[in-house]
Amino acid sequence: MSDSKGYRAPTKLIHGKHSTEKWDYNYHVVPPKTASTTFRLASVLRGKEGFIDFGAPWGQGATKPTYIYDRLTEPSTGMLEEVYVQAEGGDFACAFSCGMAAISASLMAVSKAGDNVVAHPTMYGCTYSLLVNQLPRFGITPKLVNCSDLDAVAAALDENTSAVYLETPANPTLECIDIAAVRKVIDAHNAKVGPERKVRLIVDNTFHTFWGQRPLQLGADIVVCSLTKGVGGFGVDMGGMIVGPKDLDLTVRLIRKDFGGVLPPSSAWNFQVYGIPTMPIRLTQQAASAMKIAQYLESNPLVGKVNYPGLESYPGKEIAKRQMTTPNGDFFPGSMIYFELAGDYEQASKRCHQLINHIADNAYSITLAVSLGMTKTLVEAPGLMTHSALDQCAQEKAGIHPGAVRLSIGLEDVSDLLADLERAFSTVE
Ligand SMILES: Cc1ncc(COP(=O)(O)O)c(C=O)c1O
Repeated sequence: MSDSKGYRAPTKLIHGKHSTEKWDYNYHVVPPKTASTTFRLASVLRGKEGFIDFGAPWGQGATKPTYIYDRLTEPSTGMLEEVYVQAEGGDFACAFSCGMAAISASLMAVSKAGDNVVAHPTMYGCTYSLLVNQLPRFGITPKLVNCSDLDAVAAALDENTSAVYLETPANPTLECIDIAAVRKVIDAHNAKVGPERKVRLIVDNTFHTFWGQRPLQLGADIVVCSLTKGVGGFGVDMGGMIVGPKDLDLTVRLIRKDFGGVLPPSSAWNFQVYGIPTMPIRLTQQAASAMKIAQYLESNPLVGKVNYPGLESYPGKEIAKRQMTTPNGDFFPGSMIYFELAGDYEQASKRCHQLINHIADNAYSITLAVSLGMTKTLVEAPGLMTHSALDQCAQEKAGIHPGAVRLSIGLEDVSDLLADLERAFSTVE
């Protein structure tokens, strides 16, 4: 059977491993879709073996999985995980029902009661709520620390720190954190503590996806990602993924088994068959349009600030050039744009409402909706929507302005997007 060695990344995303241990489908061009929540067990012994194999330490389990029940593992999800390991790197990938299920599982896998998690304050609103509202109920406390300030990170790490958690580029401001630099700070700390107290670096790669950035190669221990966004691309399935080192493989799978955030096989199949193979072409086109729109916004006097990694004015430009690259080695500025309307807080906020409401009422090519990474261009006001879990003080700390707008650029003709934006701006006072 042919293998993928020597082939380029877009080709591998289409063909995956080509042959899989997860299922014998040598005569299918497209992997078959499974739809059975439970599996016939030929004997009690086979049932018993299935449970033993599932719980075996990494590398000692059976090479061919014995399927028992979908919540443990099943072929479609297994095949998606294989493709993901190939694309993102790492020793294992474990798929979840959504990004939040993956994020919460990653933090639970490395933490216990009494631990703290150092996290960059700018992050997706529900992740913030998980850290600030949910995990403390289980004895895990957040320390919100600016991860661009390496001295502050070093000072925050203590013998009870289980992880440093960050998004880069961060949602919604697109702030860029230097993954390799944070890694060095963690390594210096880890050299002084026992192996059981080693701090792990967890990076949320939802905004750029493995097509635009591979955090494991830059020094992260664990990558989490919402597949609902750029990986799925069409906005029809929710999903999440953890990719990490082999010592966490079983822990993460047991968390998925016992907490239950499993990905439906039909969604795994959609990600593998539609989402992932089309990522290079979709994301390249979306980034090209985003660049043009960011340039337009930067030249617009009603806009006070634009953050887009492709612009020369982007504050993290040097880090971005090193960090945000495709597997082919090209710089990938992404499909997300953050901008702030000009004026003082009150005026900027009023203008933000005017602009977005006009788009909601009139624009054909831009939709007011949360989520991102889709074929359709979406606009939202992060302070009022995706990041409303952060109170005003937390929003200020996270750099979210009252006049902030987040755009996720889709696959429409860019001249239509620009025309809809221009029409909306013409109504802003
Ligand atoms: C950066 C980031 N991480 C995680 C999530 C959560 O993903 P999901 O909605 O699939 O749970 C989101 C959702 O918008 C996000 O933007």
